Amino acid sequence: MLARLLQKKSVSQIQSEAKEHSLKRTLGKWNLVSLGIGCIIGAGIFVMTGTAAANHAGPAIIFSFVIAGLACAFAGLCYAELASVLPVSGSAYTYAYVTLGEVFAWVMGWLLVLEYGLAASTVAVGWSGYMVSFLGSLGIVIPPEYAAATGQIITLANGTTVEAILNVPAVLGILAVTALLSFGVKESANVNNIIVAVKLTVIVAFILIGVFYVNPDNWVPFIPENQGPGVYGVDGILRAASIIFFAYVGFEAVSTAAAEAKDPQKDMPFGIIGSLIICTMLYMAMAAVLTGVVHYTDLNVPDPLAVAVDLIGLSWFSFIIKIGAILGLSSVMLVLIYGQTRVFYTMAKDGLLPQVLAKVHPKFHTPYINTALVGLAVAVAAGTMPIQELGDLVSLGTLAAFAIVCLSVLKLHYTDKNLVRPFSTPYKPFIPVIGVVLCGYLIAQMPMDTFIKLKWFFLLGAVIYLAYGYRHSKMGAARR
Ligand code: ALA
Repeated sequence: MLARLLQKKSVSQIQSEAKEHSLKRTLGKWNLVSLGIGCIIGAGIFVMTGTAAANHAGPAIIFSFVIAGLACAFAGLCYAELASVLPVSGSAYTYAYVTLGEVFAWVMGWLLVLEYGLAASTVAVGWSGYMVSFLGSLGIVIPPEYAAATGQIITLANGTTVEAILNVPAVLGILAVTALLSFGVKESANVNNIIVAVKLTVIVAFILIGVFYVNPDNWVPFIPENQGPGVYGVDGILRAASIIFFAYVGFEAVSTAAAEAKDPQKDMPFGIIGSLIICTMLYMAMAAVLTGVVHYTDLNVPDPLAVAVDLIGLSWFSFIIKIGAILGLSSVMLVLIYGQTRVFYTMAKDGLLPQVLAKVHPKFHTPYINTALVGLAVAVAAGTMPIQELGDLVSLGTLAAFAIVCLSVLKLHYTDKNLVRPFSTPYKPFIPVIGVVLCGYLIAQMPMDTFIKLKWFFLLGAVIYLAYGYRHSKMGAARR
C-alpha cells in the first residue's frame, strides 16, 4: 500500500502531456510581472493591512511585510524551478505528483483548495466591505446584518447590537464571477493589464497624496508595547506577518505561465521576484502612509484606505479608491476561482476526483459543473465566515504548500542531478532550506483554532481520497 501511495508520475510523462497542448511562447518578462501583480494585489493590502496593524503590529506592520515577502521570495525561486521543468497547469499539485508521490499530490491538491478556493472567499468578503461602503456613499444602505458573517455580533451606531445573518454582497459577488467563468469569459492579457494599471494607479495615488497628510505622532510608538501573545511587540509583528502573508498569495500564478514564457531561464525569476519586489515596496509605503494618516487603533475596519482618505477630507478620492478596490478585487476573485477549477480538473483527469469535475460544456468549453460546484462552495464560505478566520486558513494552507514545494526542489536536487532544468533555483540547498524554515516559522504564529479547523478539513480530504481517489487513480489502475 505504501508503494501505491508514493507512486510518482515521471518528468518525461508530464513533459509529453504538456507537449500535447503546446502553447506559444509569447510572454515577455514584463507580461509576467503584470500577471503576478494582477493576482497579488487584493484583499491583503486593501483590507487586512488595517486589521493586522490595529490588532497586532501597529505601525511596525511595515516589518511584517518584509518578513512575509522574504518567505515568498525563497519559495518563489523554488516554484520557478519546478515550473520550468514541469510547464503544466496543475502547478504545485503536479510537482508533488512527480517528486513526492500520489498521496503528497493529494495533500497538495487539497491545500490548494485553501490557497485558491478559500482565498476567493476571503477576497469576496473584502470586496463586500468596499461594496457596502461604496453603495453607502451613493445613499444605498445595506443592513449590517446582511453584510457580515453569519452569527457575528455587530454593534450599531446607536450602541445596540444585532446578530449577522449572511454576508449577502460577498455571496452575490462570487456567484457573479462564477457565472462569468461558466460562460467561458477568459481574462485576456489586455483586460488584466488594464485592471493592474487601475490598481497600481489607485495605490500609488494613495501613497503620493496621503504622504502630505501623515501625522508623525501616529507612528509613536512605532512598535507598541507587547500586550500578550501576538498582540503588539515583536511577537505581534510576527503574528501580523502570518496574517498579511495573504497579501502575497497569488504570485505563484506566474509560475503556471512557465510554458508560455519567451525565455523561462531569465524571465521566470524576473517575473516572480520582480512582482514580489514591486508589491513589497508598495505594501510598505502604503502601510507607512496608512498608519501615518490614521492612528493604528482606528484601523480595525473593512475599508481602511477609504477611511484614511475620508479622514483627510477628500471625498472624491475616497470614491475612486472604492471603485479601484472593487474592480481590483473582482479580478483577483476571478483568477482564484479559475485556478481552483483548473486544479480540480487536473485532479479529476488523474482519477483522484470524480470525473464529473472534468466534464466540459459542449458549447462554452468550460468545466461547467466543476465551476458551479466550486462557486457554490466558495460562496457559502464567503457568506458565513469572517475575513480573519478565512485569511488565516488560507495563509496556513498556502504556507504548507510552499514548504512542500521547497522540499520537492530539495529532493530533486539530491535524487535527479542530471535533470534538465531550464531554470535552476540558485544556491541549493540553502534557498529551499531557508524557504522551509521561514514558512514553518510563520505557520508557528497561527492561532490554535486555525490548526483545529485545518485538522477537520484534512480529515474530510482523507475520507474523500480513501473512498474515491485511492480506488480510481489512473496511476493506481496502471499498477494493478
Ligand atoms: N494576494 C491576494 C489578495 O491579497 C490573494 O487578495
